[in-house]
Amino acid sequence: MPRELAPAVCRVCEGNVHEFLDLGRQPLSDAFRAPDDDTEEFFYRLAVGQCEKCTMVQLTEEVPRERMFHQDYPYHSSGSSVMRAHFADVARRFLATELSGPEAFIVEMGCNDGVMLGTIREAGVRHLGFEPSGAVAEAARAVGVRVRTAFFEDSTAAQVRAEEGPAQVVYAANTMCHIPYPDSIFRGVDALLAPDGVFVFEDPYLGDVVAKTSFDQIYDEHFFLFSAHSVQTMAAHHGFELVDVERLPVHGGEVRYTLARAGRRTPTPAVAALLAEEDAAGLSRLETLRGFAADVMRIRDDLVALLRRLRAEGARVVAYGATAKSATVTNFCDIGPELVSFVSDSTPAKQHRVTPGKHIPVRPPAAFRDPYPDYALLFAWNHADEIMANEQEFRRSGGKWISYVPTVRVS
Ligand code: SAM
Ligand code: TMP
Ligand code: ZN
Repeated sequence: MPRELAPAVCRVCEGNVHEFLDLGRQPLSDAFRAPDDDTEEFFYRLAVGQCEKCTMVQLTEEVPRERMFHQDYPYHSSGSSVMRAHFADVARRFLATELSGPEAFIVEMGCNDGVMLGTIREAGVRHLGFEPSGAVAEAARAVGVRVRTAFFEDSTAAQVRAEEGPAQVVYAANTMCHIPYPDSIFRGVDALLAPDGVFVFEDPYLGDVVAKTSFDQIYDEHFFLFSAHSVQTMAAHHGFELVDVERLPVHGGEVRYTLARAGRRTPTPAVAALLAEEDAAGLSRLETLRGFAADVMRIRDDLVALLRRLRAEGARVVAYGATAKSATVTNFCDIGPELVSFVSDSTPAKQHRVTPGKHIPVRPPAAFRDPYPDYALLFAWNHADEIMANEQEFRRSGGKWISYVPTVRVS
C-alpha cells in the first residue's frame, strides 16, 4: 500500500494543500551545465496541489531561493522583441497614470536586465530595482538602471522606505509567482507603498494553464499558479484588495493583478467578470485540476510516441528554445539527446552547455540553420509568433514544427 503523504501546508493561509499532479524528480530548470561537468546534479520532487481553504495552487516542495537566483542565473528578459515592447508599454502606462507627480518613485522586484525600468529611467523618473541575480543585475546597471542586488522582502523593503521615502508603485513581472514567502513580501509592500499606491504584478494564469494544458508552466521557479480568486483571497489576508485584473497574451497567457490597500480604490468591473469566468470554468475546484492532470498524461504519451516514431523513421529532430519550461517536459517525458539531438537557443549564457537533467546540448541558432532539421520541437511556444516570423525559411526548406500545447501536433 502506498503511504498517504501528509498534505503540504499552504504558504498563504496554512490550510491543507491537496496534490493533484506529480511531475516526478526534476532538476533546477535553469541549471544549464558544462558538457564535461560531472558534479552531482540537484534534484527535487515537482508536484503541485491546491489549498482546500484559499484555493491557491502551489508546489508542495520548495527549492531554496539561492539555488535558483544567483550570480549565473541565465534568463535575460530582453532576449525577446515582443517582451521588450510589452515592458516599454507597461512603463509608459505607469508614467501616464501613477508616476506623474514630482515625488514619483517606482520599485520593481525582479527587474532582471532592466527591460521595464529602462523606459522609466529614460523618462527621468525615480526608480529602484531589486534583483538578486548578479549577472542580470549588472546588465540592468549597464543601461543606467538603479538596482540593488538583493531579494525583495520585508527587511530590504523597509530599508528602502527609510532611505528613499514611499513608492507610488511596486511592480513585479514573472516574479511574485517565484516567491514562496508572500507574508514577507506583503509586509515589505505595506512598508514601502504610499497610502494610495498600487502593487501590480503579472504572472502565468491558472486559467490559461488549465485551458491549454500547458503543464510546462509548472517548474521550480513557478511556486504559485495564480487565479483572480486566489489572489483576491491572498490580498485580503494582508489588508489589500484586488482592484483590477487584465488578461495578457504574453508567456502563454498571464494576468496582471492590481492591488491597493483595502478600501482605497474602487474595483473595476473586470474583477467581478474574471471571478465569474473562473467560477464557470470550475477553476477553484480540485476536480477540475484532477481533469487537467489526466490531460497532462495524455500529452506526455502522445509526444513520446511521436518522437519515437520519428526516430524510428530516421528523421532529424531538434528543439527550439532552451526554456526553463522545457526542463519539466524533457524530464517528465524522459526526452533526451537520443530523441532530440540539440536545442537551438539565442541566449549566449545557455549556448554550448547542456540542459538540466536530460543533458541535451544547447547550440546557437546558426546550428539550427545549417542544415535545417526535418522537425523542430517548439519548446518556446509562448514566443511562437516571433519565432515563426524569424524562421520562415525553415518551413520553406520542408521543415515542420512539433507543438504540444494545447495538444501534440505537427504543422
Ligand atoms: N521581470 C522580468 C521579466 O518579466 O522578464 C524577470 C523575470 S525572471 C523569470 C524572475 C526574476 O526574479 C529573476 O531575475 C530573479 O532573480 C528575480 N527574483 C527572484 N526572487 C526575487 C525576490 N525575492 N526579489 C526580487 N527579485 C527576485
Ligand atoms: P522564456 O519562454 O522563458 O521567455 O524563454 C525563451 C527562451 O527561448 C530563451 O532561452 C530565449 C530563447 N529564444 C530563442 O532562442 N529565439 C527566439 O526567437 C526567442 C524569442 C527566444
Ligand atoms: Zn491557502
